[in-house]
Amino acid sequence: MLIAIDGPAASGKGTLARKLAARYGLRHLDTGLTYRGVAKALLDAGLPLDDESVAEETAHGLDLGGLDRAVLSAHGIGEAASKIAVMPAVRQALVDKQRAFAVTPPGAVLDGRDIGTVVCPDADVKLYVIATAEVRAARRWREIEAGGGTADYAGILADIQRRDARDTERAASPLKPAQDAHLLDTSEMDIETAFRAASAIIDAKRIERNAN
Ligand code: DC
Repeated sequence: MLIAIDGPAASGKGTLARKLAARYGLRHLDTGLTYRGVAKALLDAGLPLDDESVAEETAHGLDLGGLDRAVLSAHGIGEAASKIAVMPAVRQALVDKQRAFAVTPPGAVLDGRDIGTVVCPDADVKLYVIATAEVRAARRWREIEAGGGTADYAGILADIQRRDARDTERAASPLKPAQDAHLLDTSEMDIETAFRAASAIIDAKRIERNAN
């Protein structure tokens, strides 16, 4: 079983992917962390973020087992990741690793921007998770405030809109739904409702597969 989940920043796809992996006993890879891992390795080594061959070599050396979400979620690492994510050679190196992860038994849930279109075009189920930029900004804002921080809603919204533009307008593997993806608009759903909707789609697919 291979489940591909794509969508823009802060759409809730990561949380959904983790919950689905737990429910169906599958491995999970947040592919955004692979781009972040390369960015962090370059930053730590004092290497430039605009040299494609240096970034490609770093991508080849990345260990998927060593990706630490807590460390890699820093804002500056996300910004650096979006710069190296436009480089075709970096993408190819990371896509090869992501595919190797995807085909390892017992199956996997991968989330990112190009899973249904490029990394796993033959996935059993493809979900494309969206929510309006305003809803996503409000979720981020609540997350930060709940964690004891202070956040600026207008700044978060501007940041999300900038990242959307970068993800959808880039030439290499831009963010877009696969033709056979199920669209899940979570603008008016909480995570439990989104999880139930996604599970219903996956259960229907499993029944169909078992019948054939
Ligand atoms: O989802 P995220 O914020 O962790 O992603 C970090 C960067 O990597 C972001 O600029 C989008 C990019 N990315 C990508 O190009 N392809 C993926 N499959 C996953 C992330």
